[in-house]
Amino acid sequence: MFGLEKGRLKPHKHRMSETASAASKKLHIKTYGCQMNVYDSERMADLLRPLGYAVSDQAEGADLVLLNTCHIREKAAEKVYSEIGRLKVMRQEKEARGEGRMTIAVAGCVAQAEGEEIMNRAPAVDLVVGPQAYHQLPELIARTTRAKGERLKADFAPEDKFDALSTERQASGPTAFLTVQEGCDKFCTFCVVPYTRGAEWSRPVASILEEARSLASKGVREITLLGQNVNAYNGREADGEESTLPRLMQALSEIEGLDRIRYTTSHPNDMTDELIRAHAENPAVMPYLHLPVQSGSDKILRAMNRKHGRQAYIDLIARLKAAVPNIALSGDFIVGFPGETEKDFEDTMDLIRTVGYASAFSFKYSKRPGTPAAAMPGQVDEAVADGRLQALQALINEQAQAFKASLVGQTIDVLFEKPGRYGQQAVGRSPWLHAVFAEDAAHLIGQIVPVKIVGVGNNSLIGELEKVHA
Ligand code: 5AD
Ligand code: SF4
Repeated sequence: MFGLEKGRLKPHKHRMSETASAASKKLHIKTYGCQMNVYDSERMADLLRPLGYAVSDQAEGADLVLLNTCHIREKAAEKVYSEIGRLKVMRQEKEARGEGRMTIAVAGCVAQAEGEEIMNRAPAVDLVVGPQAYHQLPELIARTTRAKGERLKADFAPEDKFDALSTERQASGPTAFLTVQEGCDKFCTFCVVPYTRGAEWSRPVASILEEARSLASKGVREITLLGQNVNAYNGREADGEESTLPRLMQALSEIEGLDRIRYTTSHPNDMTDELIRAHAENPAVMPYLHLPVQSGSDKILRAMNRKHGRQAYIDLIARLKAAVPNIALSGDFIVGFPGETEKDFEDTMDLIRTVGYASAFSFKYSKRPGTPAAAMPGQVDEAVADGRLQALQALINEQAQAFKASLVGQTIDVLFEKPGRYGQQAVGRSPWLHAVFAEDAAHLIGQIVPVKIVGVGNNSLIGELEKVHA
């Protein structure tokens, strides 16, 4: 599972924006889906920079447009095709202006899952490249521009990709993503990830540390370790021993400047005692955990092949809260899974009330081709699923608001990340991943500073600087 953030079906506005160098070609990357795609897009930009490509926020006039796609739900996949339609028009306009050709490339999980279909349905696409093959982009693009319209697709092998990628990173602020694990062996019956990202694989410790050092040397203070099952991380140490996520985080927290570590996404069955202890004992590990459960009904959990029951999850949360009293929880929920009755849905609502979430992502079940659930009887009526989704989101929203309200009056550490909406305002992150707005804080970007919480916004906190920092 991969914690998709609310609204993440909207393309991410890229933070990468570079001033064009003399010989530069314009590259526009549009990223859909999860944080791993955000990471992959940054790495694709890194790979293409030596070829003279500078990242631009605009597709208009770009020499190369990369769509980094998401296949997790139907809507996400469909967006790609309408975007290709828009790009085709821009390409014609660019050519009409005599500015040369726009190369259109499709990367990411749709490329992996539907490579052939893209080629047939959207002949405007020059190049299709799966998530484990994008290290070959420089070569593929050189070939594509020589033989216009050549289309290529490549397959799995995360080792080769990471071997080919430099551990040198560009930083675009004080926070960064770092992929440490890819793929999934869990095979939840609704999910395409095991087919698009392949089997579970962990990066060796040394290369992760090198990449983290590169980020820290450029002012990154907080990293989020990414993996579809990141808490199953078991990469090799230098001596060949298998590491664990808590051990990796210990090593990372010893890097000068790296003060905050997060990880996402985790499966409940891989939540070890050692990892729970890391939250209690390693001050760099943030008191926030994204731990999807998907449903609160034992019957549905079984049908989903989640490999644990409702009570096991509730017990795990109790152990977590006992060890880390200030931990904030987040999760993913699916409503309208085949066979879900009103009673099953009520079990989910009841579990949410029992656990208490600081945030959560919730989705209507989407039938994905090739997954076992797509063939299951009892597909739920769209309108029923809509109603359940609304009720669930209202409950989560209530809990999220209550959590934020409980912080009012407290002084919390905020990592200031970027300018706010106006003036000297800046926006930062709380330990629990809230956006925190504060006035006269623009000079504190890149620093972790105590901030008094004085108010609550819809999706944010309002803070005031302590006098000493003002
Ligand atoms: N339909 C709806 N939601 C899905 N997710 C994964 N597959 C599907 C699907 N077929 C959700 C799960 C997962 C998150 C990344 O996306 O909640 O945890
Ligand atoms: Fe997560 Fe299950 Fe999908 Fe694996 S199969 S990525 S555990 S939702």
